[in-house]
Amino acid sequence: PNSPYLRVTPSMLKKQKGRKGTDAWMVLGGKVYNVSPYVPFHPGGGPELLRGAGKDGTKLFGEVHPWVNYEGMLSACLVGIWVPVEEDND
Ligand code: HEM
Repeated sequence: PNSPYLRVTPSMLKKQKGRKGTDAWMVLGGKVYNVSPYVPFHPGGGPELLRGAGKDGTKLFGEVHPWVNYEGMLSACLVGIWVPVEEDND
């Protein structure tokens, strides 16, 4: 309430794995991004990127390339904020 951002809950996130025509969403640093537009450009390849799809990829991302500025790269792909508890949003 009173926030311009979509509040993304676990049940919403797990439907967004990039399969069956859905976009792939990923939690990074408490924000939720649609990573689908970036899949064809990811230097590590699409499948590698999609390991974090429909999940909180923060830890995995940080293990692989903590120097990559995902906030800048994905600013236009921001979906909303990560709310790791169920609400009545979906
Ligand atoms: C490179 C994995 C998410 C941007 C790589 C590489 C791997 C990888 C293995 C190395 C490729 C190589 O050198 O051959 C992953 C995994 C992700 C993920 C498992 C999911 C959590 C992302 C996201 C972004 C991103 C969300 C940007 C928004 C990049 C960039 C490189 C890279 C820029 C090149 C980095 C460099 O060479 O310094 N990734 N990636 N990746 N990835 Fe990711």
